[in-house]
Amino acid sequence: MTQIVLITGASGLLGSQVQSVFDIDGWKAIGTGLTRASPPEIVKLDILDATAIERVLDEVKPQVVIHCAANRFPDSCSANPSAAQALNVDSSAALASATISRGILLVYISTDYVFSGRKGEAPYHPASPTDPPNVYGQTKLDGEKAVLSVAESKTAKNKVVVLRVPVLYGSANDPKDSAVNVLMSQLWESQKIQPDQPKIKVDDWALRYPTNTSDVGRVCRDLATLYLDPANEERELPSVLQFSSEDRMTKWGIVNVFAEIMGLPLDGMEPFVPEEKPGDGVKRPYDCHLDTGALKDLGINVGTVNFQFWWRKEVGAFR
Ligand SMILES: NC(=O)c1ccc[n+]([C@@H]2O[C@H](COP(=O)([O-])OP(=O)(O)OC[C@H]3O[C@@H](n4cnc5c(N)ncnc54)[C@H](OP(=O)(O)O)[C@@H]3O)[C@@H](O)[C@H]2O)c1
Repeated sequence: MTQIVLITGASGLLGSQVQSVFDIDGWKAIGTGLTRASPPEIVKLDILDATAIERVLDEVKPQVVIHCAANRFPDSCSANPSAAQALNVDSSAALASATISRGILLVYISTDYVFSGRKGEAPYHPASPTDPPNVYGQTKLDGEKAVLSVAESKTAKNKVVVLRVPVLYGSANDPKDSAVNVLMSQLWESQKIQPDQPKIKVDDWALRYPTNTSDVGRVCRDLATLYLDPANEERELPSVLQFSSEDRMTKWGIVNVFAEIMGLPLDGMEPFVPEEKPGDGVKRPYDCHLDTGALKDLGINVGTVNFQFWWRKEVGAFR
């Protein structure tokens, strides 16, 4: 029998690739979106509307929901914390309640920004102490706690899994959809900068682990298969897992890779290290490296596509 997966946020950077991975693997993969919904593949669902969530679940009847819909823009979350709370926390709790009462597995996508990223702390394990650096990270952490507490209150075993991931890149409609893809656009923009004009400054301090959205999709599919397998019914499977590439780079390191691939000069860009301003209230994560050991222990492949190789293929650079 064909298995059915529902992906919230399927019009976004991650959800679109998660949907495609399940689809290629033979699942019936239905996505949801809001402003960029395009039925029948991506149906419209305002996740803030609990009744609409229930209606869509009853129509689609999925075995698993991969929950990618969120506000993941730190500036927007800080500007409107109550809206971020409603979307990232309250709607996630409503979704968990609706999936659990229907016996559906929920995979809640979270972030490495649940950790402070202070120097000397990484790598972080699923049980490492959390301390989000901003409102975005706090709401994602509160969302984790909300979905796990719904599962606990309903004594639903192996029905909710949190999957934390770091900064993502991959196929995107708009480079601005990814904090990594956008650097390629900036490299192109920098080609127009004249010697007397200010250069584009790129962070050369915070360590990032850019992870491909299709790899995250594959891990979601493998998790769904494992958690839905009746042979694992009696097992106590982990409820918090982490996935990350091991490609460690600053944003400046990333633009250097792009410049090399494209054969473009970096004259219009320059690295910068953010100034320490004691008391400015801004917490800057330095290294949020996520340990993937718990996924490996489950037998899930944590390998990733090579960053340079993927980008060469994406931009058709065969040098
Ligand atoms: N991007 C990253 O680097 C990154 C890193 C770590 C973790 N994550 C996590 O990964 C997940 C996916 O992120 P992403 O980068 O794919 O985000 P994204 O590209 O900004 O997509 C967000 C999705 O959420 C949907 N959405 C927003 N408000 C909604 C609402 N009220 N009802 C229903 N859908 C709504 C959007 O729909 P429309 O566009 O159709 O309105 C869109 O499909 C998030 O949980 C994020 O926290 C992302």
